[in-house]
Amino acid sequence: MVRSRITGTGSCLPDKILTNLDLERIIDTSDEWITSRTGIKERRIAEEGQFTSTFAAEASRRALEMAGIKAEELDLIILGTVTPDFPFPATACIVQHEIGAVNAAAFDLSAACSGFIYGLSIADKYIRTGDAKKVLVIGAEVLSRVVDWTDRNTCILFGDGSGAAVLEVTEGDSGILSTHIFSNGSFWNTLYQPGCGNRNPATNEQTLLDRLCYIRMEGNDVFKHAVRAMEEAACTALTANGMTPADVSLLIPHQANRRIIDATAKRLGIAADDARLFVNLHNYGNTSSASIPISIDEANRTGRMKSGDNVLLAAFGGGFTYGSALIRW
Ligand code: UT7
Repeated sequence: MVRSRITGTGSCLPDKILTNLDLERIIDTSDEWITSRTGIKERRIAEEGQFTSTFAAEASRRALEMAGIKAEELDLIILGTVTPDFPFPATACIVQHEIGAVNAAAFDLSAACSGFIYGLSIADKYIRTGDAKKVLVIGAEVLSRVVDWTDRNTCILFGDGSGAAVLEVTEGDSGILSTHIFSNGSFWNTLYQPGCGNRNPATNEQTLLDRLCYIRMEGNDVFKHAVRAMEEAACTALTANGMTPADVSLLIPHQANRRIIDATAKRLGIAADDARLFVNLHNYGNTSSASIPISIDEANRTGRMKSGDNVLLAAFGGGFTYGSALIRW
C-alpha cells in the first residue's frame, strides 16, 4: 500500500531563554503561578535579525540532512505559521530560496497550533495520490513579536522556534496511517490577533493605539474546548485504525498547557507520568504550529520512538482548528 513516511526530522530554536523569573521582573506574575497553572518554566525568544524563516530554514536543513536527500529533490514545501515574515510572499517561498529547493512548490498554511497536522494531512494526500514524492512540512513561529508583553494572561505562554519533517513515499508497513483535521469557526474570535489584517489595518493609527496587533485570548474558553477537541481528534484516529489507547506507544500532544496535556492523556487512559506521554512544554512554552514538529524531532533524536511504534499526534488551536495523525514509526 502506498503511503507517506517521515524520513527526516529537524528543529531549530532561538538561543535566547526567557525564564519565569525574568517575567517576574516585567509583569505582575510569579514562577509559582506560571508553573502550577501552565507547567511552563522557560521559553525561547528570537533576537533582532532572526525571523520565522530563519528558524524554519535551519530546521528544514536538519530534517533534509537526516533524510539524506537534497533540497532540489523536494516537490512541495508546506509551512504552518501564524507569524509569517511578511503578509506576502509566503514564508515557505523564502525558505525554499534559502535552502535551494528549486523544484518545489511552496505555500504557507494558517491553522494556528494545528498548522503542522494540517500540513502533514495535505502532504500525506499529495504523496498517496502520486502527485508528490518528497514533501517538506514545517511549523515555525516568532510569536514573541505578536505577544502583548503587558498582558500577563497571554505573554507567559508563548515561545519561538521551528520544527520540520521530510515525508517520502513508501510501500512498507510504516508511515502515516491516517490524518484527521477539523475546524469550528464559531469560536474564531476566542483566540486571535485582531489587528494587522484588513479589518484593522496597521496603517490605521487606532489599530496601534488599541494594541490590536497582539494576541487576544479567552483563556478559560480555549482551555475547555482544547481538552474536548484533542480527545475527539485522538479517538477518531484510533477508531479509524481499529486501535485502542493501549496500542499507543507515544502520545505527542500540542504543547499549550500541562493541565491540557494531562487532561487529554487521562481521557485516553494515559497517566501524566507515563513514559508514553511526550512533554517538553516546560522548556519552550507554546510554540503554536512548531510545537508538534519540535517534539517529534526531540523524540526521534532521543530514541523515544522505535521502529513499529504507534505514535499519536493531537493538536488544537485558534480558529478553532484541531486534528490528529497516527503514525507507525
Ligand atoms: O495553543 C492553544 C491555545 N492556547 C491554550 O490552549 C491556552 C488555554 N488556556 C490556558 O492555558 C489557561 O486558561 C491560562 C493559563 C491562560 C490561564 O489559566 P487559568 O487557570 O484559566 O487562570 P484564569 O484565567 O482563570 O485566571 C485566574 C487568576 C485571575 O485572577 P483573579 O481574577 O482570580 O483574581 C487572573 O487575573 O489568575 C490571574 N492571572 C495571573 N496571575 C499571575 C492570570 N495570569 C496570571 C499570571 N500571573 N501570569
